Amino acid sequence: MLEESEIRQRFLDFEARFGRGGVIDLYYAPGRVNLIGDHTDYNGGYVLPIAVEQGTYLMIRASELSPARLYSENVMLDARIFPADLTPAEDWADYVRGVYFYAREFCRDLPPFDALFFGDLPLEAGLSSSASIEVATALGLESLGCKLAREDVVKVALKSENDFVGMPCGVMDQFSVTYAKAGHALFLNSGSLEYRQVPYTLQECALVVGNTGVRRNLLETDYRRRRSECEEALDLLSKKLGPRKNLAEVTINEFERARYSLPPLLEKRAEHVIYENVRVEEAARCLEAGDSATLGHLMNRSHESLRDLFEVSCQELDALQEVSIDQQGVLGARMTGAGWGGCVIVLIKKDMVERYLRRVPGLYWQSTHYDAEFVVTSPGGGARKL
Ligand code: GLA
Repeated sequence: MLEESEIRQRFLDFEARFGRGGVIDLYYAPGRVNLIGDHTDYNGGYVLPIAVEQGTYLMIRASELSPARLYSENVMLDARIFPADLTPAEDWADYVRGVYFYAREFCRDLPPFDALFFGDLPLEAGLSSSASIEVATALGLESLGCKLAREDVVKVALKSENDFVGMPCGVMDQFSVTYAKAGHALFLNSGSLEYRQVPYTLQECALVVGNTGVRRNLLETDYRRRRSECEEALDLLSKKLGPRKNLAEVTINEFERARYSLPPLLEKRAEHVIYENVRVEEAARCLEAGDSATLGHLMNRSHESLRDLFEVSCQELDALQEVSIDQQGVLGARMTGAGWGGCVIVLIKKDMVERYLRRVPGLYWQSTHYDAEFVVTSPGGGARKL
């Protein structure tokens, strides 16, 4: 989180940019890092994310003048929102436009506004920067007279991402950014949206997030294709096993009986989802029982599966994961989020973190010629008004 003094400065920046007067409110939504369970959420499966301690801040003030004026310090760009013409402009502000658009299903007369976005969350790094913008915006509508319930914050944020921006992601990011609780991981069933806050009890372990430095815009990856491969696998398995709502409903035993009915590519995709889903349940039990060794082992298996079966890793993620698991004190490491770049999450003994941070950047650079950045994180709190 940012220091008080940095935030005070932003109030002055806000007034310098948009003028003085009126009530300026401040909202915060964190990024998230997923401990385990990737590409399970759009298959009705389990995920186990935590909120990181970095996020997006939104300063907002209702205004009488259309259009709404926005500025993002993160991308150093301004934008306008014309309430009478809410169509995607294909810039960063579409995340905000989408929220404003769908929130009108709940609140009819939303006034224009001035808004400043800033924060300390890296963009396009697989830490849900877009979900944090959407959720901060959806909460911030309260300052425009539109207080949404938490489940509606998630709904509006997800619709903005799926239908306005056009990125067909699952519910994990928007849900975890909204519902995260400090000191806990969120065990979420993405199919039913039932969830449990799992206390993070591994006192002797730290979580390091290593950013490979490979940025990617998910719209330009094969994410959409992976979704449709999963749908095809589900259709074929349903023909064999009887109707199933989603892949995560298929048990390992059922899959082992029916896997040979799938073409090899779809067999790999389904195997990842079905086994990963079971790993998430085990991982949640490990967290509860304080079993860091087994949790680390599950994280490594998850990485291998995302790399070899689901094929969403990349050379740099693999390099950082491999260098990481070779280090003393590391219990497990895996790519986290969608893949194709972004971050690795490492579970490591606390007393080995310093040594890890001294050695790994150089080793990673030697094998990839990328500079990785690292933060030690612990489960932070969810989105809120500050
Ligand atoms: C992205 C999506 C999520 C999820 C992950 C992979 O972060 O936004 O919904 O599918 O990829 O687990």
